[in-house]
Amino acid sequence: MSGRVAGKKVFITGAAQGLGAAMASALAAEGAKVALADLNQAGAEKAAAELNAKHGDGTAFAYALDVTNEEQWIAALESANSVMGGISGIINNAGISSREGGIEELSLEGFRKLMSVNVDSVFLGAKHGIKYLAKNQPGSIVNVSSIAGLIANHTSPGYNASKAAVWLLSKNIALYCAKKGLDVRSNSLHPTFINTPILDPIRNMFGKEEAEAKLARQVPLGRIGQPADVANAAVYLISDESRFITGSELKIDGGISAM
Ligand SMILES: NC(=O)c1ccc[n+]([C@@H]2O[C@H](COP(=O)([O-])OP(=O)(O)OC[C@H]3O[C@@H](n4cnc5c(N)ncnc54)[C@H](O)[C@@H]3O)[C@@H](O)[C@H]2O)c1
Repeated sequence: MSGRVAGKKVFITGAAQGLGAAMASALAAEGAKVALADLNQAGAEKAAAELNAKHGDGTAFAYALDVTNEEQWIAALESANSVMGGISGIINNAGISSREGGIEELSLEGFRKLMSVNVDSVFLGAKHGIKYLAKNQPGSIVNVSSIAGLIANHTSPGYNASKAAVWLLSKNIALYCAKKGLDVRSNSLHPTFINTPILDPIRNMFGKEEAEAKLARQVPLGRIGQPADVANAAVYLISDESRFITGSELKIDGGISAM
């Protein structure tokens, strides 16, 4: 099998739809084996079946995984390691946003939920995944943060805080692996508005066209991003093309953070 990530075996969370599914598809097209893990097991199975139909059986595997559950992480990683013949990449992509309101409106329960899904996930994925990557060097961890992890707004305290935590946790993991002498890299991705179901709440509020136009007006390039814009970055960070890049953040924001 040829391709930019030929021979890579990549475990991807939140892969039933949206960015996770797009990353799985782009990686499989470039020669990787992929394990698609998601709370939505049926969705992960459907996405994996589509990749197997396109690229051949044994390309993609599906796992039911709640990324906040440590036991499930341990079991899914062990199984993926066994069926793929190793794990050389982990993409911590599963995440949630919510209509939070300001800090006085968001409940403690709501805050904890955002922190749990968006941050515990990255902690658990790295904590239990590094040992597999160590056996399949060079390895790469890609953590999906957000531009909202670097730039705050006034209505998303839990999302801002959780995605900022992902940003620095990625650097911590990078330094930990380097200090251990492992050729295992860790980097974060920071997309702005990308055309996935995560934008549905705002589409439902304003209607699809108006919602997307409103978002596009905030982006210097004048449009929202597409899943492939993020998937291409993931392929690069999983591939050996990025072998000297660790502890970095890659913004995929159409220029928002340049303002
Ligand atoms: N789309 C955007 O505009 C955008 C922008 C910046 C960052 N992000 C981040 O990108 C990532 C993917 O977002 P998306 O747009 O594809 O969202 P999405 O809602 O389309 O998909 C998220 C997937 O994660 C899964 N998931 C949710 N909670 C889970 C859990 N506890 N365990 C396992 N899986 C779970 C869902 O079932 C779903 O399949 C998220 O971390 C999100 O915060 C998205």
